[in-house]
Amino acid sequence: MTKKITVIPGDGIGKEITEAAVAVLKKADGKFGLSLEYDYHDAGGTAYDKFGTPLPEETLAAAKASDGVLFGAVGGDKWDSVEPTLRPEKAILGLRKGLGLYANLRPVKVADALVQYSPLKPELVKGVDLVIVRELIGGIYFGDRCESEMKDGAERAWDLENYSVPEVDRIARLAFETAKLRRGKVTSVDKSNVLATSRLWRRTVEKVHEDYKDVALDHLYVDNCAMQLAVRPTQFDVICTGNLFGDILSDEAAVIGGSIGMMPSASIGEQTSLFEPIHGSAPDIAGKGIANPIGTILSAAMLLRYSLKEEKAAAAVEAACDKALADGFRTPDLWTEGFKKANTESMTQAILDRL
Ligand code: NAD
Ligand code: IPM
Ligand code: MN
Repeated sequence: MTKKITVIPGDGIGKEITEAAVAVLKKADGKFGLSLEYDYHDAGGTAYDKFGTPLPEETLAAAKASDGVLFGAVGGDKWDSVEPTLRPEKAILGLRKGLGLYANLRPVKVADALVQYSPLKPELVKGVDLVIVRELIGGIYFGDRCESEMKDGAERAWDLENYSVPEVDRIARLAFETAKLRRGKVTSVDKSNVLATSRLWRRTVEKVHEDYKDVALDHLYVDNCAMQLAVRPTQFDVICTGNLFGDILSDEAAVIGGSIGMMPSASIGEQTSLFEPIHGSAPDIAGKGIANPIGTILSAAMLLRYSLKEEKAAAAVEAACDKALADGFRTPDLWTEGFKKANTESMTQAILDRL
């Protein structure tokens, strides 16, 4: 039976990196007989320019009706002054909300070939294998907000952070389930020394933990967690946290592996899942053909694994990425003396050749 993939390239490097990932999916299809079909849709600034909205209804409808969504990135300076509700970023936020994607899995695993290229010392990085389970459709991202109001003679703006018990319960359950299939440890990250939402978060996670006594649970404040990621990243197995903390910690954790361009993610909910690299549209390198495609290619591997249940094909794609790196291919974000200079196209070709 044919499986339909909705491809949403978006803005900036989005087009370049999704093209690379689709090439890899096509090759995997030929090898493993996956019967994939691709359906392209606009989102972000590109969609705003064409249709006056960053998330056309038909894009969301197509995503909902597909077997999996491959997303590039949205955003760029060009749209920084558009009305806040029409910003390109609203496209990805709208897709997450519209598809009910409450959990975002961001794995950080450092290929042996890259251990010495991390800005952290190799002995700290060797063996890092963690996953951030980020709550994705709640918290301050989706609370009430006010762009501008006058109070006591001064202009102010506000964003409201709120979490309900069911929202925390479901993400905590997913974190414990994830840990059960890994090394059996969850670190819940909050700011419960200050925030009411974090105190509700912590007590809800503890309650859910009663159903998962075979998994170890500890808690860290987010500021300490940010430090621990740099001091001893191997201590982490599953990090479970809210939307904003997860956003910030995952960019930090990405550096452990050498470049944010390497990091994939899976956003999952009740139905169709969405797969995207954790980085953005990289306006500084867009159009130059030098973006690292691996984060998006590994996101496509996650699509194969989670949405299509094609574990063999997923593992083959991951192995091909590892092999291309082990063989010395490097896009500029990772290149140092002695390695093979690659751009998006030649890096992708190196991966295709090894698949
Ligand atoms: P960014 O992730 O786009 O870029 C940060 C830095 O990392 C830049 O120097 C960039 O060149 C580099 N980088 C990112 N991806 C790379 C890759 N694949 N290969 C090589 N280098 C890469 O973050 P930013 O600059 O803060 O944001 C730019 C725009 O992207 C903003 O509009 C932001 O809102 C948007 N954004 C979108 C998403 C998304 O669509 N999911 C995610 C993050 C940021
Ligand atoms: C990410 C991005 C998004 C987020 C933006 C573009 C809305 O930074 O996917 O990490 O903050 O979630
Ligand atoms: Mn982010």
